[in-house]
Amino acid sequence: MTRKRTGLGIDVGTSALKALAVDEAGAVLATSERSYPLLTPQPGWSEQEPEAWWQAAREALAELTARLEGEYEPMALGLSGQMHGMVPLDEAGEVVRPALLWNDQRTGDAVDAIEQAVPRREMIERTGNPAITGFQLAKVVWLREVEPESYARTRHVLFPKDFIGFRLTGELFAEPSDASGSNAFNLHAKAWDADVLKALELDPRLWPQVVPSKAVAGDIEARVAKELGLPEGLNVVAGAGDNAAAAYGMGLSSERPELGSLSLGTSGAVFAPQAGTVTDPAGRVHLFCHADGGYFLLGVTLAAAGSLNWFREKLAPGHSFSQLLELAAEVSPGAGGVTFKPYLAGERTPHLDPQLRGSFHGLSLASGLPELVRAVLEGVAFSLRDALEVMKPLGAPERALLTGGGGRSDVWTKILADVLQIPLGLGGQVTGAAYGAARLALETGGESPPRPESDVNWLEPGDFDPYAAAYDRYRELGP
Ligand code: XUL
Repeated sequence: MTRKRTGLGIDVGTSALKALAVDEAGAVLATSERSYPLLTPQPGWSEQEPEAWWQAAREALAELTARLEGEYEPMALGLSGQMHGMVPLDEAGEVVRPALLWNDQRTGDAVDAIEQAVPRREMIERTGNPAITGFQLAKVVWLREVEPESYARTRHVLFPKDFIGFRLTGELFAEPSDASGSNAFNLHAKAWDADVLKALELDPRLWPQVVPSKAVAGDIEARVAKELGLPEGLNVVAGAGDNAAAAYGMGLSSERPELGSLSLGTSGAVFAPQAGTVTDPAGRVHLFCHADGGYFLLGVTLAAAGSLNWFREKLAPGHSFSQLLELAAEVSPGAGGVTFKPYLAGERTPHLDPQLRGSFHGLSLASGLPELVRAVLEGVAFSLRDALEVMKPLGAPERALLTGGGGRSDVWTKILADVLQIPLGLGGQVTGAAYGAARLALETGGESPPRPESDVNWLEPGDFDPYAAAYDRYRELGP
């Protein structure tokens, strides 16, 4: 019997590693998942053990191959994962210390040092972003200054998914979508920026070779293949950071900048594909490389569905999400004059300030639970509108596919469509980064499965007027 061909993808997430198999038609065959702890050794620090990712990858891949029951022949494996992290490796390829993650905020002094060495405007022009606490470069500078012994042993720095790539293949590599989230990658040359590294007196040999997202970065080592039940010599495709991989899986292409996405998970993001390097001179919105060879703007609000989770947990325990959303639906746009600033975890777009904090304004004796929940939903929508406003002169999407848990709420999706004033695509196939990585693997293996966009329903925006005064209030309150 000839076995059917399948592409595999993995996503090294912040809470779990997901492995997924797709068939030649692009349909999901099986998934498996393993979680691991997030370490917070000090306030503002966010770390994970790379070996815990590797253990999770081995278990998830072994489970996945067992599920495919010998009926399917994996043709390639694609990588995706959380962006920006720093995995330091020594001469022998062993982990020097736990990885610093994308949401780690310890690097304020390192960012100041980078801004001293490379003027902000130049950093944005070269790398697409100002120096940012969460990005990889600040973490390397922090390591040198604060843990010189660890730094002295470090010979290589990798992104999270590329560490898994290294353990699978024995090859050290990165690809442009993650590299562009480092502050050390020149977007125009698509190569590590030697001038930036020189200004900071960093050894460029710390960073690995950069291969295209669709390139075969190496073959799986025989010993690993045997353990995981994978074919010997299986191609490992470089893949993409989680945002680019998920967008790629949804068919967002830098040749079609009019179609973007809006994700409403713990954090929220507006993804806007771009054909060229359009940077915001003020650096309020990120510019990264897309997996298809183009670029994308990314506006990030750090507490989206996270704001609603916080509200339910801390202020309305005993209420279910659906009860809270029903209450919000009873209140008219404007939330009875209550404004919520969703900066519970600091903010990226447009303020780029990890120290910002959230707040309610405009409370009166008439404000009750319904007004407060409504204000939370509207505040998150206004924050995403801020991101879209920054994108407009650069190239904002004309419509966006909606993803993430928050997108399952009718009242919230209606608020979002009305506030953002663009049609939102609902009900498309829920895919995610591991799916995008598996598609990249399939395509590198020579397949071109159809795009899963067809079953999307478009929600057209209603009138913005009922929100105009509330959005003005939100803006006037400032960060
Ligand atoms: C993007 C970002 C997050 C991480 C988490 O800039 O920081 O989306 O990639 O997965």
